Amino acid sequence: MDTATICWDAETESIRYIDQTELPARFVVVSCSSVARLAEAIVRLEIRGAPALGAAGGYGVALAACRSDRKGDAFFEDVQSNAELLRRTRPTAVNLGWGIDRVLKACIDAGSPASAREAAVREAEAIAREDSLLCRRIGGHGALLLPDSCTVLTHCNAGALACVEWGTALGVIRSAVAAGKDIRVVACETRPLNQGSRLTAWELSRDGIDVRVVPDSSAAHLMRQGLIDAVIVGADRICRDAVFNKIGTYMHAVCAKHHNIPFYVAAPYSTFDNDALEDEIVIEERGRAELASCGGRLLLPEGVAVINPAFDATPLSLITGIITENGVIYPE
Ligand code: MRU
Repeated sequence: MDTATICWDAETESIRYIDQTELPARFVVVSCSSVARLAEAIVRLEIRGAPALGAAGGYGVALAACRSDRKGDAFFEDVQSNAELLRRTRPTAVNLGWGIDRVLKACIDAGSPASAREAAVREAEAIAREDSLLCRRIGGHGALLLPDSCTVLTHCNAGALACVEWGTALGVIRSAVAAGKDIRVVACETRPLNQGSRLTAWELSRDGIDVRVVPDSSAAHLMRQGLIDAVIVGADRICRDAVFNKIGTYMHAVCAKHHNIPFYVAAPYSTFDNDALEDEIVIEERGRAELASCGGRLLLPEGVAVINPAFDATPLSLITGIITENGVIYPE
């Protein structure tokens, strides 16, 4: 993609990002100059995807530092409380807190408010730069795993829009295509918010990559028909015994195992949470409204409740390999 998903505008000391809720109908770039607005953007999924949330967390702390006019200790308390506001927006993707903490540390280590502002912007920019680099390295390692001609199923959006650019799972696909491989992508639509049909299909088709959208519930059938050669997804948090990713990922992993299809997770080390076990992680539960209607049309009878978890956990035993910037980890 020609525009970064999220970046810092030094002239206006604000964050610029692509509003992903508007895609694919409209391409809207938002200029965000307050932490409260950024928090709202994260909750609304205007910015989403683990690595992009890491960058947003880092830029958010830089924004808090640049916009605070407090002096001395009050400045650092102000930045810290804005950081906590951002941290509370989404609990599952580990990168958000990771990005926040990294820039917060740079800020505090800097000593004075003036140098803290500079250090915060520098560190947030470093996170974004590294993300682009790491995605390309993930792409390079992952591309070697794919046959010269194959059909890859993916879920949600782990592409340029979920990162600063290039992507993790879609980065592997981009790198394989760049290496001359003939890759066909099957993108699950990813109900209820359709990150697959709205975002993955949008960015791959813009790049001229062969992509077809399928209902989430068709994946097992397609695998059984022998139409899928590999599955590649991203991750929101990789802990000691499981990988958290968009709801529906676990179902694909079970089906892939059953049909003997390799199931890969592509993610940078910033998505690893090596101390935690699955049971300790909070899975974000989202509201009824996401299931209750679509395009203004009612899909649910009044008064009927929903269960709407945003993520699920896939045990490592179902995962063939985790593709990182330093190579592939085989869970066994
Ligand atoms: O709720 P979302 O859209 O933020 O969920 C995103 C995902 O589950 C992605 O697959 C994950 O963050 C990996 S992005 C490289």
